[in-house]
Amino acid sequence: MTTAAPERTATSPTPTNHRALLAWVREMSELTRPDRVVWCDGSEAEAGELTRALVAGGTLEPLRRPGDFLARTDPGDVARVEERTFICSPDPDDAGPTNNWMAPDQMRATMTRLYDGCMRGRTMYVVPFCMGPLDAAEPKFGVELTDSAYVVVSMRTMTRMGAAALAAMGENAPFVRALHSVGAPLEPGRADVPWPCNETKYISHFPATREIWSYGSGYGGNSLLGKKCYSLRIASVMGRDEGWLAEHMLILKLTSPQGATHYIAAAFPSACGKTNLAMLEPTLPGWRVETLGDDIAWLRFGDDGRLYAVNPEYGLFGVAPGTDWTTNPNAMRTLERGNTIYTNVARTAEDGVWWEGMGAAPAGLTDWHGQPWDGSAPAAHPNSRFCVPIRQCPILAPEYDDPRGVPISAILFGGRRRTTVPLVTEARDWAHGVFLGATLSSETTAAATGKVGVVRRDPMAMLPFIGYHAGDYFAHWLNVGKHADAAVLPRIFYVNWFRRGEDGRFLWPGFGENSRVLKWVVQRLEGTGEAVETPIGLTPPAAAIDRSGLDLDVADVAEALRVDVAEWRAELPDLSDWFARFGEKLPTVLWAELDALKVRLGGS
Ligand code: GDP
Ligand code: PGA
Ligand code: MN
Ligand code: MN
Repeated sequence: MTTAAPERTATSPTPTNHRALLAWVREMSELTRPDRVVWCDGSEAEAGELTRALVAGGTLEPLRRPGDFLARTDPGDVARVEERTFICSPDPDDAGPTNNWMAPDQMRATMTRLYDGCMRGRTMYVVPFCMGPLDAAEPKFGVELTDSAYVVVSMRTMTRMGAAALAAMGENAPFVRALHSVGAPLEPGRADVPWPCNETKYISHFPATREIWSYGSGYGGNSLLGKKCYSLRIASVMGRDEGWLAEHMLILKLTSPQGATHYIAAAFPSACGKTNLAMLEPTLPGWRVETLGDDIAWLRFGDDGRLYAVNPEYGLFGVAPGTDWTTNPNAMRTLERGNTIYTNVARTAEDGVWWEGMGAAPAGLTDWHGQPWDGSAPAAHPNSRFCVPIRQCPILAPEYDDPRGVPISAILFGGRRRTTVPLVTEARDWAHGVFLGATLSSETTAAATGKVGVVRRDPMAMLPFIGYHAGDYFAHWLNVGKHADAAVLPRIFYVNWFRRGEDGRFLWPGFGENSRVLKWVVQRLEGTGEAVETPIGLTPPAAAIDRSGLDLDVADVAEALRVDVAEWRAELPDLSDWFARFGEKLPTVLWAELDALKVRLGGS
């Protein structure tokens, strides 16, 4: 860790000769005027120093397990802020109807006023990082400038961060410029608060220049700029331009009792089961799951024409509530190894952690506000999180670090729907699969601010993350299918673990039992699984889902799988409205898919 006064930044020795980087750091420090600029090396010693300072300042509290800390955010800074997220493409038409847009010059002017002096009294940390393996053919670098030490220690977990990334950048590698400030300058003599932030928030992206400007929030999805901002919003634009896909997908390796291996990627909206599926412990004997990623996948064609997936991240930023030994034992084992930053969970009297879904609440809990818990509201915030190195996951697949990635056999799209959407449906072909993804719907969750439980279209689970016009994004997906031989393209499926019966209970037990659905997926890939044609796609007859050892009536499975024509007809007007939003940019193939669906549903 090297330190330099801001006015000396340009001339004092720094750990790099990258001139564009040095110039940008100087320019941004002149704008934001921090008391000092610190170049982060990502070392253990540096992380130790930062966490000690965060504990001294009241941002982090040490917990019982080594390396574990608890952060409590400002109660107004607990989730991604989609209404404050902007795609500042030069042409508004490139942002499309699903994004907020502002002209780049206007956004720069607005935010430059906010950034002016915003780091006074604070430290600007220079955080070099790489998304994906450092030994990739073209490593994807970024540098985040932030005035939050919480962000630095979290980025160290979530990305390949520090001296190695900076060294690999050499003197002129391109990098994504990511500027972040909590927007809370510290006046001389004023004490800091545990969670500085600002009511005014902007999460802005400049896709044309591959830049990110974030202001006012310390919450992960808004502040760890390597994650959603870079690896999804900016990377989706890179993928459009370069012929690949940046997706909101987990990656898992599934091995059958016969030893056959398949890699599966799955896209579900935030807080809809990615981390759980990525670490699934199959209840079916002989099946094995290994984890490669739980949130983001970059998909590129390999020389053999297959789609290969890489997880650009290095850590897990998981939803805490609902995580338990019965639902996700591998997450619990990952957390048992310590080194975890918890945000907005409850704290036990023994300096451990607790959240809803972890069995009975122990006495003496401190809630996420830092108050003795009285049971009147959740003890942990519904979007409370754990941030932990992926290397602690006991079922991590060794290939997770392979820069070539892994060849994907199947893509699952999924959402959270109480009604209508069956447990599993297989697309007829790639175009139909893209249609299923483009029309994906899900109930909103606590992962973003706003009302929870509202059904909305969330195409490919990417609604908040597509960095350009969603109509162009659908066309890009269709093009990916044209590029490849249909025989080696991943097969596409649509799943819903969240359908409920009339009495309100989940029709499907979920979690480890989802291995039974994965088994059918593999049987389909291998040509042995039974399927029936329905108006919406291919579904298994209830008897084709392996129920061995499961106390669940075949009638319940049939109910979870049922295609209700009336419910689907009721979706049609909304589907037409949804597609109409994209105007001429909606690929005609998708209109044709919708027309064909209408015909098959035999109505309207
Ligand atoms: P992610 O944000 O997409 O990674 O979602 P998570 O895997 O963290 O899960 C979000 C929430 O959904 C947690 O509270 C989980 O316990 C719950 N969940 C995950 N998988 C299932 C499932 O198969 N069935 C049910 N009922 N809930 C699930
Ligand atoms: P999630 O990741 O998808 O695991 O919830 C964070 C987010 O999408 O905000
Ligand atoms: Mn996510
Ligand atoms: Mn997750």
